[in-house]
Amino acid sequence: MLIEGRNLVKKYGKGEATVWALNHADFDIDKGEIAVILGPSGSGKSTLLNILGGLDQAEEGTLQFGDRHLETMSDKELENYRRNELGFVFQSYNLTPDLTALENVEMTAELSKNPLNTEELMEELGLSKHLNHFPKELSGGQQQRVAIARAMVKNPKLLLCDELTGALDSKSSKEVLALVQKVNEIYGTTIVIITHNEAITAMADRILRIKDGKVITNERNANKLKVEEMEL
Ligand SMILES: Nc1ncnc2c1ncn2[C@@H]1O[C@H](COP(=O)(O)OP(=O)(O)O)[C@@H](O)[C@H]1O
Ligand SMILES: [Mg+2]
Repeated sequence: MLIEGRNLVKKYGKGEATVWALNHADFDIDKGEIAVILGPSGSGKSTLLNILGGLDQAEEGTLQFGDRHLETMSDKELENYRRNELGFVFQSYNLTPDLTALENVEMTAELSKNPLNTEELMEELGLSKHLNHFPKELSGGQQQRVAIARAMVKNPKLLLCDELTGALDSKSSKEVLALVQKVNEIYGTTIVIITHNEAITAMADRILRIKDGKVITNERNANKLKVEEMEL
């Protein structure tokens, strides 16, 4: 097991207005898995991702990453965890507008301990022809694929994706998800995809359904599909 969350609690507000964003949530994710966390808006997905991503800490419960416990880490330790172990991809691509695709990825490589070779990675990910394009010269799907390369160049143990196709049409979504699947196959990276889109569960090794701050199912997907075979 790479990740083990137990009894995680996170509340917002006070008294009558208290919202239980996580209400004793339990989950497991194995090394090398693609885990899809599915739930409606407001169910606690981003809260869970923020805690898994070391951007926030739960009030109760335990969260293990390998043999380390995130709930006991100091701010400095969480910062190192984020910097050394994690890649993030969000719905908004957040590329730096005045840098080319290559420079966007290169900038992250320079800040990393054991980066992959930027140009080799971008070739592997099918981005060679966009190296010298600026973000505004790329479609949304292309920008998101560059954002995946930027997250992957530090060779993270865990790639966290929050609604990464939320702003894309179905064709671009498929290209982006196919790239995520490829990264998982080539580099063996453990990947967590947060979504409210049921169709994306088809590519998962593990499906976690979240409702009202609780993980209500934590199951392996017996019929995992290649993204090309999926209906989005
Ligand atoms: N910073 C915050 N302050 C107050 N309430 C919050 C905050 N963040 C999230 N919430 C509430 O917690 C619940 C879960 O939110 P969130 O984790 O963002 O859900 P999801 O990502 O599934 O839409 C929602 O009811 C939301 O309104
Ligand atoms: Mg959210």
